[in-house]
Amino acid sequence: MNGWNSLRDIIAVVSGANSHGSIQRPSMFDPAGEPAALVLDITWLLVGICGAIGVVVLAIIAFSLARCRAIPGDDREPAQVYGSNPIELAWTVIPLLIVFVLFMVSARGIFELERTTPPEGAIEVTVVGHRWWWEFDYGDLGVITAGELHVPYDEGKPTDIYLTLESADVAHSFWVPQLGPKMDVIPDRINHLWLQANRPGTFVGQCAEYCGNQHANMLITVVVEPRKDFEKWLSNQQRPAVEDPSVAEGRRLFLRTSCINCHTVRGTVANGTFAPDLTHLMSRNVIGSGVVRNTHDNLREWVWDPQNIKPGCEMPSMKLTREEVDLVCDYLETLK
Ligand code: CUA
Repeated sequence: MNGWNSLRDIIAVVSGANSHGSIQRPSMFDPAGEPAALVLDITWLLVGICGAIGVVVLAIIAFSLARCRAIPGDDREPAQVYGSNPIELAWTVIPLLIVFVLFMVSARGIFELERTTPPEGAIEVTVVGHRWWWEFDYGDLGVITAGELHVPYDEGKPTDIYLTLESADVAHSFWVPQLGPKMDVIPDRINHLWLQANRPGTFVGQCAEYCGNQHANMLITVVVEPRKDFEKWLSNQQRPAVEDPSVAEGRRLFLRTSCINCHTVRGTVANGTFAPDLTHLMSRNVIGSGVVRNTHDNLREWVWDPQNIKPGCEMPSMKLTREEVDLVCDYLETLK
């Protein structure tokens, strides 16, 4: 599968299952907020300046090729120019000026984008990069989720999102092209990232720093939804896990396996923090951080052996029988 196809698949997985507004193509050329727009402005300026230099260089090469072509039967050396102060000065000073302009523009951009304090009214979320999924911790709001970041949108007012970025293992990079710049996610270091969404919709992003063999399957989905939808999502996420007596057997089985060492289901003995919180697993559209859609069959195949779907991921097959997988998944499917 080539890169374009897999990207299209990822978008299809997210878009096919989501009802929140329009699906945005993950393109940095279609910014949906101030930070992303600033990145695009700088990009165009750099591309413009470098493109102009390219055109001048190519034109000089073309001119030289045409002018100094060998003439059959004429083996005289072409005329040479030696020592010209104005020319040497020009090709020293002009590049220096260009580099200075590029440096100043980039430095100013970085200065504007890198905020050490959240903008007024921003929603603040801590993001933890794991191999290979993203954890979103809403702090005082008491919600921890995976892969899908929900933020509220008030009509006519851009939503500021202020992220605190941490890594649980290796270096990752958090990048949602339409909402802002990339930011490295580094072990033992706390970075911050300011994003902005000026319209509702589902925005797709991706880990942008090679972090191991499933680096490409580290999808980010940002759902920017009207505030009342967000409040509804939030109050559901804040609830402890549903306890449905009809799936008691699957629940018992789940709580007896080592699943609980890595996963949390709030309100049960499962309190692992190594892997995604499953308290509201079914509210999410994808599993394995975007590797497949969260459907009845995919969930069963995933629990049967995650290594078939996402080779190298940290979750092993629990060596359950097909019947046991069904029981566990029947239970998981009640975690709405
Ligand atoms: Cu995480 Cu690449």
